[in-house]
Amino acid sequence: MSDPTIFQKSPIVQKVEPGTYWWCTCGRSASQPFCDGSHEGTEFTPIKADIAAAKTVAWCACKHSQNKPFCDGSHSRL
Ligand code: FES
Repeated sequence: MSDPTIFQKSPIVQKVEPGTYWWCTCGRSASQPFCDGSHEGTEFTPIKADIAAAKTVAWCACKHSQNKPFCDGSHSRL
């Protein structure tokens, strides 16, 4: 598995409504932190995130979290 592109070395923090979100794993999407289809032709596929209740989410934007799609602090070691 090749390394994903690092979009940025800090999370994208957002208030999100309940629903289904597709988190970009390849790091190429122009609609970060979400998939825009840019992974086409790569080995990457987006991760589905079901958010049950409105809350603030820290989405991983470095793409190296061990708790994808959420930030776990791994960006500080890149
Ligand atoms: S932004 Fe990826 S672990 Fe924090």
